[in-house]
Amino acid sequence: MITLDTMREPSLEGKKYDIRVRPFQASDLSTVREMFLASMVNQSDSPFAKAMKGQLTAPLSWASYAAFVVGLIVRRWCSKRIGVSLSLLGSIIFAVHRTVLYIGLRRRVERNLKADLADIAGHYGMKEVADRNTGAVRYTPSGKSGFWIAEVGSEGKEPEAIGCVGLDANTNADPTSAELRRMSVVSSYRRKGVALLLVRALMEHSRENGIKTVFFSTSSFQEGAMKMYQRYGWKYQGKEDVSFWSQKIYWHNFSIQVDDFSL
Ligand SMILES: CC(C)(COP(=O)(O)OP(=O)(O)OC[C@H]1O[C@@H](n2cnc3c(N)ncnc32)[C@H](O)[C@@H]1OP(=O)(O)O)[C@@H](O)C(=O)NCCC(=O)NCCS
Repeated sequence: MITLDTMREPSLEGKKYDIRVRPFQASDLSTVREMFLASMVNQSDSPFAKAMKGQLTAPLSWASYAAFVVGLIVRRWCSKRIGVSLSLLGSIIFAVHRTVLYIGLRRRVERNLKADLADIAGHYGMKEVADRNTGAVRYTPSGKSGFWIAEVGSEGKEPEAIGCVGLDANTNADPTSAELRRMSVVSSYRRKGVALLLVRALMEHSRENGIKTVFFSTSSFQEGAMKMYQRYGWKYQGKEDVSFWSQKIYWHNFSIQVDDFSL
């Protein structure tokens, strides 16, 4: 357990918190899904928000703005009919472009919510184990995969989940490598080392379960994540172009040898 007493968030300033990492439990499911939606869709720095903002300055959008403006000029000085048609065409291209991007991104998010995030315990191999003393049943990782929660406790309050990470050994055929997935920390607790605690738990589990390489991919919209993984020793393995409707998007791939992780 780690005590954080230097908080950068003004509302948290001066308070003491105990942060610990524990295995995912059934009651965490909706919180993890909310964290995923917040960090991927709802926050202003989420990939979803950045992609929608990026669309405003995509080449196709500039073409639609140009068609709209040229249409206004043509309407004023040459032909009303051609001018109106051109402006209308510009507006339609822009609206279709934005709508298709929005629907495409929403579908990707929904696919994620219906995949591993629909049944985290099942997908990440969390098995129920009864406590010898109390008889209480709790999830614990039963194989190479696993899912962990960072929680914060403060005096007189129930612990609150503030971050999560999964290790998925099912996305590749090599039994000695596994993928880090679903890393997320709630925004008011970022830049305080919570992700490091999660990565440590994941690395410890990897070591104990014969995993030698951990890899992950993140999108070009997640610069913070890329900086963090490089800071924690991950090696850049190149990028894949997954651009979508004139919206440039790359997947950046990283990996680390478990034995090289020493933080
Ligand atoms: C990426 C994320 C998990 C980092 O969590 P975190 O708890 O804030 O990370 P840490 O506090 O352990 O970060 C440690 C270091 O990483 C780097 N880092 C982390 N976030 C950064 C950011 N937004 N910009 C620049 N560097 C960053 C810094 O070097 C930081 O150290 P410092 O605060 O002393 O400068 C969090 O920002 C997040 O949830 N982002 C949205 C979801 C996401 O992108 N997930 C990754 C998908 S693979």
